[in-house]
Amino acid sequence: MKKQTIVLACACALLQAQAITTASPDGNVVADFNVVDGVPTYTVDYKGKHIILPSRMGLDLDNAPDLLDGFELANTSSSSFDETWQPVWGENSDIRNNYNEMVATLRQPANDRTVLIRFRVYNDGVGFRYEFPQQRNLNYFVVADERSEFAMPGDITAWWIIGDYDTQEYEYTESRLSEIRGINEGRAVESNLSQQQFSPTGVQTSLQLKTDDGIYINLHEAALVDYSCMHLNLDDKNFVFTSWLTPDAQGKKGYLQSPCKSPWRTIMVSDDARDILASNLILNLNDPCKYDDTSWIKPVKYVGVWWEMIGHDKPWAYTWDLPSVKLDSLDYSKVKPNGVHPANTANVKKYIDFAALHGFDQVLVEGWNIGWEDWSGNKKDYVFDFQTPYPDFDIDELNKYAHSKGVRLMMHHETSSSVRNYERHMKDAYDLMDRYGYNSVKSGYVGDILPRGEHHYGQWMNNHYLYAVTEAAKHHIMVNAHEAVRPTGLCRTYPNLIGNESARGTEYESFAGNSTSHTCVLPFTRLQGGPMDYTPGIFENDLSKFNPNKKTHVNTTICRQLALYVTMYSPLQMAADVPDVYNRFLDAFQFIKDVAVDWDRSIYLEAEPAQYITAARKAKGTDNWFVGGISANGHKSEIKFDFLDKDRKYEATIYADAPDAHYLTNPQAYTITKKKIDAKTRLKLTTAPGGGFAISIKPIN
Ligand code: NOJ
Ligand code: CA
Repeated sequence: MKKQTIVLACACALLQAQAITTASPDGNVVADFNVVDGVPTYTVDYKGKHIILPSRMGLDLDNAPDLLDGFELANTSSSSFDETWQPVWGENSDIRNNYNEMVATLRQPANDRTVLIRFRVYNDGVGFRYEFPQQRNLNYFVVADERSEFAMPGDITAWWIIGDYDTQEYEYTESRLSEIRGINEGRAVESNLSQQQFSPTGVQTSLQLKTDDGIYINLHEAALVDYSCMHLNLDDKNFVFTSWLTPDAQGKKGYLQSPCKSPWRTIMVSDDARDILASNLILNLNDPCKYDDTSWIKPVKYVGVWWEMIGHDKPWAYTWDLPSVKLDSLDYSKVKPNGVHPANTANVKKYIDFAALHGFDQVLVEGWNIGWEDWSGNKKDYVFDFQTPYPDFDIDELNKYAHSKGVRLMMHHETSSSVRNYERHMKDAYDLMDRYGYNSVKSGYVGDILPRGEHHYGQWMNNHYLYAVTEAAKHHIMVNAHEAVRPTGLCRTYPNLIGNESARGTEYESFAGNSTSHTCVLPFTRLQGGPMDYTPGIFENDLSKFNPNKKTHVNTTICRQLALYVTMYSPLQMAADVPDVYNRFLDAFQFIKDVAVDWDRSIYLEAEPAQYITAARKAKGTDNWFVGGISANGHKSEIKFDFLDKDRKYEATIYADAPDAHYLTNPQAYTITKKKIDAKTRLKLTTAPGGGFAISIKPIN
């Protein structure tokens, strides 16, 4: 490991009139900081072009004078840092963290207070954060809002989802900044979204943008700890975004005590879209791993009792007979089973057999525990105890059976957003997992948060999500939380956070259908902060085969589903369809069996937001490569294999859309061919609309 920290310069109040310039190690990204008429102000340039125009920084406080103006620049210091670190799991086995840093000490004489603003300037962008040293006049304080501005260089293109404090499960819209208001207002009228929106020009991060001269800008945050999640509110006359934090039940946006710091605000920039996907800015801005021993954290490929409910409309619940029951007064042994509850011992054994036969690590079982009759939409405090199995789920027998076959069950904790109830039971729930040998849990936060009035992305909830992860670590349990706050790179610090949903996943193929561009946007946006449990692998598009009343269609070709295992990086990947469907397509299923979930090296070969993405990855500790390509509307690719070892020959197995494939009319049409390739090979491939291709590559000499 290379480590170098040099203090370069230190200057004091005299600098006030002059901007402090910090350039990236390659000189392409330049952040200027200044205090202009008492207001902290910054700009960012990329290759000599203005990316962030003069933008103000500061916070509005609720119980004290604000931290917006009246500042003097008391001191600045600069340093450089260059280190290569190894993540526990990831897209690359080595990650270089190389930046130039500038820390500005700001004094507010009228209130005798001090705030620091720290900038880190990387080749792929900029991070800045506020730091509040311990001091008499800024001790306990309440944030009314953070006012960090991001002034855009004009009416540029954005891929955005509406500002919502509780869900990100939306399709992205591509539009000019000036169109956001009209589109949002139209939707609010159409679908009564106004309740969730904080502003007609509010959007969530990570926000992907592109200038007309081809510069890609991405706004997000890193290391969201003990603070509310940041949204962005657009002044659409001047094209200035301002941070907009998630409020608590009383409308307050954060309770802080110095010494403390804000999360990093991140601005990625490049003239090549592939760099945005390859960026490690967010991970680099997070703290190193806090656990001494990480040997128990392992990537997971899994199947599960899940799509039967989500896609085929079977129930999580054991009985139909209990519309609204009090869990503590219910005796399940006396109720009549509905007879179609998929989380039953015999059915789960089929999944275990399937997982063992095909080399999967784990089997998720949802609907195993009592409470599902009453779980959603009722804002009930006490729904689940996370410990009591339904009468038809033999937890002891099933765990023994799974372990005897080298497979583990994956735990499921749907909290139905009753967070107090979850914390009340958390220790017992994790103890139960220890007893039976579970080492991973998928948790979920469907519905309105209890305590009532709190939001999914507020400070209180963010503290809860992290508490669930750090408590799980004490039991050597890995966590995959659905509906939780969007990731901000905390998986570097707490790598047992192996997945999150926090976006519109495959489940919407069943609820409404996903657009064919959706997974061509997600790696630019949602995946910036950490991996997504997208749950790909659906091979049967026609869901009316399982429920004749069903109108939705899975909008992808089979090859697109294969490619997602490569384009949607995650150390946690599900093969989400049911065994009976996979048994009809075992030749294509082979790719899902073979594909790795942890990597030595990742290369993005081509990318354009909402249009296409092609990635190549080398499986960790092997010489095998996997390539995946997806496109929204059909795309022609020419793959150059120059990333392969020059001295070796390889066999490639190519899974491609058949010439007449189409996500709607002919989604199951594919070809599988084998070809000898080397580093000089060029391969032309055409993806169908909503299609994709997947290639597995093994050395033969
Ligand atoms: C929503 C999750 O995204 C989904 O995966 C899960 O099956 C349901 N909640 C039930 O917990
Ligand atoms: Ca969800």
